[in-house]
Amino acid sequence: MSEGKEAKPDVAKGLKGIKAADSSVCYISGEEGILLYRGYNIHDLAENTDFEEVAYLLFKGELPNEKELKEFSALMAEYQTLPPQLKEFVKSLPRDVIPMTALRSAISIAGVYDSEAEDESTEANFRKAIRLTSLMATLVAAIRRHRDGDEILDPKPGLSFAANTMFMLNGVEPTEDETKAMDLLLILHAEHGFNASTFTARVISATLSDIYSAITGAIGALKGKLHGGANIEVIKTLHEIGSVEKVEEWVQETRANKGKFMGFGHAVYQVEDPRARHLKSLSKRLGIEKGDPVWYDMSEKMEETIKPLINKNCNVDFYSASLQYYMGIPKELFTCIFAASRIAGWCAHVLEQWADNKIIRPSSNYTGQAERPYLPISAR
Ligand SMILES: CC(C)(COP(=O)(O)OP(=O)(O)OC[C@H]1O[C@@H](n2cnc3c(N)ncnc32)[C@H](O)[C@@H]1OP(=O)(O)O)[C@@H](O)C(=O)NCCC(=O)NCCS
Repeated sequence: MSEGKEAKPDVAKGLKGIKAADSSVCYISGEEGILLYRGYNIHDLAENTDFEEVAYLLFKGELPNEKELKEFSALMAEYQTLPPQLKEFVKSLPRDVIPMTALRSAISIAGVYDSEAEDESTEANFRKAIRLTSLMATLVAAIRRHRDGDEILDPKPGLSFAANTMFMLNGVEPTEDETKAMDLLLILHAEHGFNASTFTARVISATLSDIYSAITGAIGALKGKLHGGANIEVIKTLHEIGSVEKVEEWVQETRANKGKFMGFGHAVYQVEDPRARHLKSLSKRLGIEKGDPVWYDMSEKMEETIKPLINKNCNVDFYSASLQYYMGIPKELFTCIFAASRIAGWCAHVLEQWADNKIIRPSSNYTGQAERPYLPISAR
């Protein structure tokens, strides 16, 4: 038994760089800026697919053919309607509830009303993955509307998954570019390896607990500001700066005060974050369409100024801030939108964990007291 508080050098604090399992869900190269879902490049997926196709790919490991996609999309559409108990649960929440707190609790409640929640068959687990993926986006929309005192909307038949998500959030049918923007947000955030929330989902599912428990835990991990949430800081910064002309001065001042530039740098990508460029071009387009390009223009000016100054690229969170603003999504909901996308990756990892399960049980390096005699309370 060791004494003293010094950590041993073989402790990998935060598990950084430790490979904890084999996984075929996604490949990331931080040096080359490459992100593949099941072997498909994120650029191809961003340009050619919708969220339904990507969710199928993540769950099944292969792209669907036309018939498979049609059936899968129909199931996703069917599951987009909230069970009445869940709608009532959202309505019972205080209006000022933190959206991620509401989402975490609602997913836990969803497990109570799913008659298949404890069914461990592969078919039932696959159905639950689809159900959870669909429910999540509807719940995010319901939480937004409840907070604003608006009626919670059911999905509209005939709309795509992304279009319906936008419709249920904002109460109006989205334009083509708004639908594309939602699809992009959902596709680009859907999967990113063994990040904290995905790892949480795997740890919980590896105990052979149920998928609702795993996803509830994952939402709890994503809620933390070291994981989801940098894009909220980006939009706050844009509002604080207020105009393109003030960007340069703000950047210099922030640098002088040794401040962090939110939306820049990445723990894995040392070069371009491959997801950022797609959000950037759509943010530009929506800014022009909405007749309010200033938030994009400021973002572009910030990128031009900050990148050479700190030698860090902008990450996925940077342009997603102005993009979501243009989509009419309140900043308090940004992390929930992330969850509505990452649910596909979480479920893919839970299914993968169960396909070849081993309980996850690391050990720690003990830095506490050596064994000592128990003192009766009168002698302390
Ligand atoms: C993402 C992040 C946590 C990665 O941290 P990391 O793995 O320590 O990154 P690096 O090793 O490249 O950074 C080393 C140094 O570069 C500088 N740096 C990195 N990102 C910076 C940023 N956005 N602004 C200013 N300086 C930064 C810092 O001096 C940092 O040293 P520190 O750890 O003492 O603060 C970090 O870049 C960051 O805080 N970015 C802003 C928040 C953000 O956008 N998060 C979303 C990520 S998708």
